[in-house]
Amino acid sequence: MENKQDANILMTSIDVFPWNEHFNTGILKIDEQHQKLVQLLNRLASHMAFQSDKETLDIVFQELTAYAVYHFETEEAIWHEYLHDSSIEAAHKAEHDNFVLTVLSLKSKENSNSVASMIEKMLSFLVSWLASHILENDKYMALVVLTMQTGISQEEAESHARNHLHGQMSVLIKLILSTYGSLATNTIQLMTESVERKQAEKKLQTFANQLKKSFQHLDLANKNLEKQYIDSIRAFSRIIEMRPGIKSGQSKYIAEKALLVARELNVEKEQSKSIFYAGLLIQLGKMSLPDNLLLPAYFKIPLAEKTRYLKHAIDGEALLNGLTQLKEASKFIRHQYEFYDGTGFPDGLANQNIPLGSRILSVVRDYIAYLEGSITGEAMSVRATIDKLMELKSSHYDPDIVDSFIRILKATPVDEEFVAELPKPKKSWKNSKLMNSSKTLTLERPIIEISLAQLKPGMEIESVYFDSKPYLKNCVLDQKIINNITSLKENTGKDPIIKIHMGKR
Ligand SMILES: [Fe+2]
Repeated sequence: MENKQDANILMTSIDVFPWNEHFNTGILKIDEQHQKLVQLLNRLASHMAFQSDKETLDIVFQELTAYAVYHFETEEAIWHEYLHDSSIEAAHKAEHDNFVLTVLSLKSKENSNSVASMIEKMLSFLVSWLASHILENDKYMALVVLTMQTGISQEEAESHARNHLHGQMSVLIKLILSTYGSLATNTIQLMTESVERKQAEKKLQTFANQLKKSFQHLDLANKNLEKQYIDSIRAFSRIIEMRPGIKSGQSKYIAEKALLVARELNVEKEQSKSIFYAGLLIQLGKMSLPDNLLLPAYFKIPLAEKTRYLKHAIDGEALLNGLTQLKEASKFIRHQYEFYDGTGFPDGLANQNIPLGSRILSVVRDYIAYLEGSITGEAMSVRATIDKLMELKSSHYDPDIVDSFIRILKATPVDEEFVAELPKPKKSWKNSKLMNSSKTLTLERPIIEISLAQLKPGMEIESVYFDSKPYLKNCVLDQKIINNITSLKENTGKDPIIKIHMGKR
């Protein structure tokens, strides 16, 4: 379609064989037909150059040859009227016949030669034959006939025509023939190149589109794969937390808050993902800790055992060894107990030498641990926990990260696009009105999801759902309630979704 439009534009503006007044023989009927023949030749050339489909080419070609035959008959009738049965009439007719035979012969070879070669041969023949035949033979014949009309004999008329045309036309014929020959060849070449270029561009565009589509599919596949990957790590994280003594729900909270801090600090996307993964797996090494180290608060662990406890960070790293996608996350896990002043575990790294992910994770991890009481043995309020983080700013924690985390706790502007494939922050985080306009801490306590096995009397329930239906809201647990939830689980076979408030009021 596009090619045909291009061909039409050029066909009206470029003729391989422009009409020239020197082609006029002086016999109107013949000149009109010559012009029509030249027009048909130009049309055929354009269709050939623009590689129109074979059907179209055949139609134009047949039109040209049929018109040539019709014209030859018209012309021969005129010559016959004046030059009947003369040798020049016979010679002229033979030339016409020869033309038709040559054209048909060239056409018959179109399948055995390359298209380009056929086009070149056919057009070269048509242009040179028409030009030389009209300029030499037809003009000569016309001059003889026109001269005879003045009453001169055929013999005298032929002699007059020979003398007249020889001097005037021979140079002109050569000049026109060579000009037309090269014009035709160059024009065809240019037109063919233009078509080939357009076809190449079209192919390139098609290829580019296919490539784009492939990348889009790949991107989608990657996104699906990544989602599956995140889901697997989440599932793994929940399995780790089934071990008694490992705090359930905390890893998810740590991962999500750490991701928000990373976003607030404009950490690039890949590293943010690693921070998120490290958060989910932060307690992985605790799997190998004995109960006597898992159950008590950190301050209650005997001094001699503290290093063993902290070593879970190294175990966590080792367990992830060989998982390429978690390589960076495993480093963050290893260095989660480094202190900003360089007095931490295991390598005594200081300041910016501590991996950024580890610096972020330690702040969020300790925030939840202080609230819960798993560091000091006493649950703390949000206010007291924030004060604690501020107090340990610069010694334990990167001060910029503590500030960022507190800003996150106050309110979090959410850049949806940045976390497109990572979990969306909860609405309550996005819509948090806490401390937006005031410096006073009125932060709400975190709510985390924990498993039934970890319920203990005294915990503050935010909600318990069975099969999407609310069972309990805002109450303090006692053993009786825990027993009720346990029997309901046994009777219905459904796992409850339990959320508790962290920290003291
Ligand atoms: Fe002729």
